[in-house]
Amino acid sequence: MVTAYDSTFAEIADEAGFDAILVGDSLGNVVLGYPSTIPVTLADMTHHVRAVRTGVRRSLLIADLPFGSYQSGVSSAVDSAVTLMKAGADAVKLEGNYFDEIAAIHKAGIPVMGHFGFTPQSIHQFGGHKVQGRGSQADAILAATQSAEQVGIFGLVLELIPSELARVITDSLLVPTIGIGAGVNCDGQVQVINDILGLGTVRYKHAGQFLDGRNLVRDALMNYRDAVSKAEFPTESNSF
Ligand code: KIV
Repeated sequence: MVTAYDSTFAEIADEAGFDAILVGDSLGNVVLGYPSTIPVTLADMTHHVRAVRTGVRRSLLIADLPFGSYQSGVSSAVDSAVTLMKAGADAVKLEGNYFDEIAAIHKAGIPVMGHFGFTPQSIHQFGGHKVQGRGSQADAILAATQSAEQVGIFGLVLELIPSELARVITDSLLVPTIGIGAGVNCDGQVQVINDILGLGTVRYKHAGQFLDGRNLVRDALMNYRDAVSKAEFPTESNSF
């Protein structure tokens, strides 16, 4: 699984053969420039889900329920999930121990994914980007994932937890686990597309980088700017 936030990158990810494309609320960080996912609204998510939908033909399109769109109760959780489905999602994802909300969304006929371990919408409660599930926390995370499975999740993201805990969780559940910073023992992996393309300025330990995208894009833009300055572009072949 990989994230996408617009039609072009969704189309490329779909062509690349990903099982699932996530319109993550990480769009707050990597597209909108916010310091966290907390300011992201349901309207933001809806806008980007519509765009990604136009690029996805084959992959499962999963959309994040943003902070504030499900925490206040079951009916707002279902309403928010319905909004994202109407925008084109095939499934939704929410963070944390919202078992009643998961059950209600599932009952409404909407596939729902869980997200456990480090859950970015609770960053202030965690006091920063910190690995979760070390020591005595491990049992609570395992129990939460089991409860979420019982109330209807079809899969879950495990973020920033020790790989041994990810193995225990993966072995104890029937639904697939998708890891990010959770080691090799998950059923699948997810990454933020800007990280794997190397577009950002920050390098995270959990993130893979498969392209030096920031430098490549800057070089291309400088080449274009220089070509215009030197009157080398446009040429006859670009003209009518
Ligand atoms: O918002 C997001 O991109 C995510 C992934 C990090 C799993 O939730």
